[in-house]
Amino acid sequence: MKEWMGKIRTLSLFSFLVIILSACGKDNLTALVPKGYGAEESFNVILISILVMIFVFIVVMAIYVYVIFKFRQRKGQENHIPKQTEGNKTLEVVWTVIPILLLIIIAVPTIASTYDLADESEKEDSINVNVQGMQFWWNFEYANEEIQTSQELYIPVNEKVYLNMLSSDVIHSFWLPSISGKMDVNPDNENTMYIEAYEEGVYWGKCTEFCGDSHSLMDFKVVVVSQEEYDQWVEGMQNTDPEYTAESSTAQEGQEMFANSCISCHAIDASSSNPVVGPNLADFGNRTMVAGIKNYSKEAIVNWIMDPAEMKPGNGMLGAPYLQDNSIQEEDAEKIADFLMELKATDEPVDSVEQFKEEEAENNN
Ligand code: CUA
Repeated sequence: MKEWMGKIRTLSLFSFLVIILSACGKDNLTALVPKGYGAEESFNVILISILVMIFVFIVVMAIYVYVIFKFRQRKGQENHIPKQTEGNKTLEVVWTVIPILLLIIIAVPTIASTYDLADESEKEDSINVNVQGMQFWWNFEYANEEIQTSQELYIPVNEKVYLNMLSSDVIHSFWLPSISGKMDVNPDNENTMYIEAYEEGVYWGKCTEFCGDSHSLMDFKVVVVSQEEYDQWVEGMQNTDPEYTAESSTAQEGQEMFANSCISCHAIDASSSNPVVGPNLADFGNRTMVAGIKNYSKEAIVNWIMDPAEMKPGNGMLGAPYLQDNSIQEEDAEKIADFLMELKATDEPVDSVEQFKEEEAENNN
């Protein structure tokens, strides 16, 4: 009896944990609340498969329980040998045909979705972004707009956006759970997919292929905005100025330092002709996060500049000369942060970004 109670207790604890843990997810980082076409298609296929499995489970369990009771050994019949049967054509046909039907029910929507999601008939007339995965960040180059950015992909709501994906080092994998499925990002062959988001907002993206020390920190965001905001953003990005002059005096000092050591890897204008070495920092003043993982603040930027190894072990910035000879003081980093926070493609705040920052700030308190 006691053993039985123990089992019940373990089971209820387990169910409790499942409920608690499933509430830990973020709304913008879950495949279970789809906010885009690919995610919705995947979710529907998941749902159909689960329903079919539940149906099979219930039928099998019902037969199982029925047989256990109906054919159990009864008192006084210990030596009874039941009637022996061999082969039953009808039954065999039934239990062969039912699984085939169930598999067809799963296969039809799965295959239809697979073809839908690979459809490229609208590619030429849509936004095309060349996605480049790197240890441990993402570069996004808008092929026709001739701009590029890093870490934050802006797309208009309800529009198909085609992604052409390549890695410049090891294999990464692009996953945007709320909007679309996953796609491997390989060094040698280009993979393509399209994404389409149904609601404005900022959605969390992850790298899902182990790619080095900071694989789990290789996050990015997709910023879904109205068509109007998107057009403004593109125009702003096209007009980012490589000769920009900082406004405040500390930012001006920061800019001078930036020009002496950072500019060889980080461009401050979004022109797609800039070589992709380190993340492009155009529009950095409107970023949702720092390094893709820390809440946006001057403090986080300073911490990043002073000790990038602490935030993202093994990242490409660790070879920078200023870190090798320890030539940077915290006040220098603060001035550089002042400069970076001034870099904005649009002065108008982007609704999705503002809302995201508020929510993140709240969550961290
Ligand atoms: Cu890139 Cu994991």
